[in-house]
Amino acid sequence: MKVILFGATGMVGMGCLREALASPDVEAVLSISRQSCGVEHPKLRELLLPDLFEVAAVEQQLVGYDACIWAIGVSSVGLDEAAYARITEELTLRWARTLLRLNPGISFCYCSAGGAGGPGMWARVRRRVEGVLNEMPFRHVGAVRPGFIRPGPGIRSKTRGYQLGIVLLKPLFLMTPLLVRAFPGLFTTSERLGRAMLSVVQGQADGFILESADINRVGG
Ligand SMILES: NC(=O)c1ccc[n+]([C@@H]2O[C@H](COP(=O)([O-])OP(=O)(O)OC[C@H]3O[C@@H](n4cnc5c(N)ncnc54)[C@H](OP(=O)(O)O)[C@@H]3O)[C@@H](O)[C@H]2O)c1
Repeated sequence: MKVILFGATGMVGMGCLREALASPDVEAVLSISRQSCGVEHPKLRELLLPDLFEVAAVEQQLVGYDACIWAIGVSSVGLDEAAYARITEELTLRWARTLLRLNPGISFCYCSAGGAGGPGMWARVRRRVEGVLNEMPFRHVGAVRPGFIRPGPGIRSKTRGYQLGIVLLKPLFLMTPLLVRAFPGLFTTSERLGRAMLSVVQGQADGFILESADINRVGG
């Protein structure tokens, strides 16, 4: 499987990149981002684009892929709906549509967020994106909604709120296996999340939405 990955410079994307590079099912990864993720690996190629809205300029490099994993995201804190939707919805769907046109039969996994079923602006935008993706004719498609994620070694979130939560909960990290077992609906790890996202694009998930407990089961 040849995978295009978005967000490898962030916490979720880096967790997924590590799992993809370790997986015998993944032949090659093309990471598309604004800056390098700093990883060198024979399976990995990076395509750096200062502005990710400029898809048209690189279309010819996007052909021949089996799957796309989307882990780009921003916090909604301080943003109105239009600004939040610009990255969360417009950028995601622009790439999803382009990749599907260039690679009919491609699969897609979208990293949404725990709580996306709830009220509030950010959840509404997330559900809109999920709904549109679910209607698109991908081979396999799914959305993961992680709750708290324990990052793998050396991985940090660039989103201040997430990173603060990680620092505050660090004393609990030794108990991560216990927490995942006791509260699978709240806790996961970047390893399990990465594997779950790979399972989605391989058609191994049993539903479109994977909440935290599903992520732990599918990516366990
Ligand atoms: N971390 C968590 O605990 C958690 C929990 C639930 C859901 N999530 C969701 O998972 C997704 C990823 O979270 P994360 O913790 O990995 O976030 P992160 O560490 O802040 O990483 C965000 C990623 O998105 C990219 N990005 C942001 N704005 C961009 C833009 N305008 N153009 C291009 N790339 C852009 C960043 O690229 P640059 O390096 O170029 O900035 C980075 O790769 C988000 O949607 C988040 O809501 C995270």
